[in-house]
Amino acid sequence: MMPDEKDGPDQPDEPDPTMVLGIESSCDETAAAVVRGGGEVLSSVVATQEDLHEEFGGVVPEIASRAHLERIYPVIARAIDQAGVGPDEISAVAVGHRPGLIGSLLVGVAAAKALAWAWDKPLIGVDHIIAHLHAACLDAQRCPEFPAVGLVVSGGHTSLFAMRSALDVQCIGRTIDDAIGEAYDKAAAIMNLGYPGGPRVDARAARGRDDVYDFPISRLEPDSIDFSFSGLKTALLYAVRGTPTGRGQGAAFERDAADLSPGEIDDLCASFQRAAVSAVMLKLQRAIEQQRQRGQAPRSIIIGGGVSANTRLRKDAQSLADRNGLQLHLPQMAYCLDNAAMIAGLACLKLEAGQTDNLTLSASPAGMY
Ligand code: KG4
Ligand code: ZN
Repeated sequence: MMPDEKDGPDQPDEPDPTMVLGIESSCDETAAAVVRGGGEVLSSVVATQEDLHEEFGGVVPEIASRAHLERIYPVIARAIDQAGVGPDEISAVAVGHRPGLIGSLLVGVAAAKALAWAWDKPLIGVDHIIAHLHAACLDAQRCPEFPAVGLVVSGGHTSLFAMRSALDVQCIGRTIDDAIGEAYDKAAAIMNLGYPGGPRVDARAARGRDDVYDFPISRLEPDSIDFSFSGLKTALLYAVRGTPTGRGQGAAFERDAADLSPGEIDDLCASFQRAAVSAVMLKLQRAIEQQRQRGQAPRSIIIGGGVSANTRLRKDAQSLADRNGLQLHLPQMAYCLDNAAMIAGLACLKLEAGQTDNLTLSASPAGMY
């Protein structure tokens, strides 16, 4: 075809790709982003509140919602400005509306409703956990082939999914106690490493030996694809502080993390990380095998959530994918932690599938997965 034929007046115009403004405020990041066609990130603004919560060693819900209120409109304005688009070009407004801290979610949901109403655009509520599974498609070289096994590893979730498509997902495994990110954060607290713990334990693990402490790798029943991290956390506590005398509040420990050398902390971090990541890989392998037995052999593995930034998890997941002959889809580092590009990206697919909401959309603290 000649170039001028392609541009000629008789040719039907290509429909413009969907362009969605996404808003995220479920926990301690206030974020907004503009994404075109599900994967092309035109802007992604994230205002973290880490500094506000650090002195408390965790997220304080009341402080989080107040900070969201102050930041939400400047963050949205910056995302629109950086994308260089006007409201006319935006196809829909999307918001992460579950799960999360209710006071935090409400700020994002109210802002999204106000914009959808003012601009007369569809409103799309997005599940934060399923959005984490879409993060690997943002600014990506290639999209996953389905069916896929999905894994979300975050501060609140450790869940496995059978995915027929990005929108057709079924949860097949979950944690029975702590989430892996929560276990990392508690491990960091036990070792006095500060908050948020995950990245700090990861960095210290790089300097340590992972075979010094024989921490338990949770297996559960032979066919289980659920997770458990509470035993690992207790094993770490005892390794750091010694076996306590007494129980509960009255427990007295032999020592404190401050009594350990930096080298010992590095080894504890590396050994903890080996056990935590190995447990996740074990269940991921079981999930792949179970899906094959059900005649739904996966073609890809898709991983998302804050802990998908973890050095060892990324490396071990690649080895597991190679051993199984599967494609591995991991988010770029910028899209592992909470962000609004994953909300806007998944919403583009929802819009194309006709899955929109209206102004009665509610925020929900409870998760579905
Ligand atoms: O997905 P996310 O930003 O928020 C939730 O939806 O929960 O995940 C945050 C979690 C925190 O627990 C944090 O410690 C953990 O992800 N995390 C990491 C790393 N980076 C963040 N855990 C292990 N290694 C990392 N490099
Ligand atoms: Zn998250």
